[in-house]
Amino acid sequence: MNIILLGPPGAGKGTQARRLEETRGMTQLSTGDMLREARTSGTEMGKIVAEVMDRGDLVTDEIVIGLIEEKLESGTGGGAIFDGFPRTLAQADALGNLLERHGQKLDAVIEMRVDDEALVTRIAGRSTCAECGEVYHDVTKPIPEDGKCSNCGGTEFKRRADDNEESLKQRLLEYYKKTSPLTGYYHAKGDLVGVDGMADIDAVAAEIDAILDKR
Ligand code: AP5
Ligand code: ZN
Repeated sequence: MNIILLGPPGAGKGTQARRLEETRGMTQLSTGDMLREARTSGTEMGKIVAEVMDRGDLVTDEIVIGLIEEKLESGTGGGAIFDGFPRTLAQADALGNLLERHGQKLDAVIEMRVDDEALVTRIAGRSTCAECGEVYHDVTKPIPEDGKCSNCGGTEFKRRADDNEESLKQRLLEYYKKTSPLTGYYHAKGDLVGVDGMADIDAVAAEIDAILDKR
């Protein structure tokens, strides 16, 4: 099964994708994570990517489509959860073609709907485990009291360079301008299902599970 988690920055895409990896053995394909890895590589491409991400702009279609293509070539056991991809109509077309070429299809596009105000609070309180990438929130999912990651026991946590007010504003503008038209695109294909992303993490998870169980 292949699904897309579609939603603005902070909607909870990464949180739900990681859970689906654990519970359903699917593979999370997060272009954000891939790009963050690229920027630590010190290559020319990595430097360009870092600047674009820190501004809150979108990286070029060519780069992200290339990253996804590489992952699909190497196989996605248990099916793919596309997290943060596609983000433009050109990326959506490219994904359709790539899946077709690999004899696969899309089973659902899950749109996670969250108010802008809540997104700001979520991004401001987010931290991730430096070791395994588990996502925490100062209020809704605090780091355990013993200071150890509940998933891997790691003790180092970091905040993202683009999780500041200015970049977030730009990320939201980019989302509404370039990514939100994808809801119409996938609705027309009959693939779009909306979930209430304002609910708590477990309730959102239950809603997503109910959708996937029917596919
Ligand atoms: P990316 O890494 O994809 O970031 P994003 O889309 O901005 O999304 P986030 O990772 O910020 O949020 P999320 O929805 O995963 O939320 P999370 O689960 O962490 O992209 C970063 C940048 O890379 C882009 O700006 C762009 O430059 C570039 N890029 C990436 N993909 C690209 C592409 N395809 N094309 C071009 N450029 C691309 O949750 C957020 C917080 O809320 C956490 O603290 C979490 O604990 C908490 N939380 C989660 N769910 C809930 C809930 N239900 N209730 C309360 N709190 C919750
Ligand atoms: Zn961890």
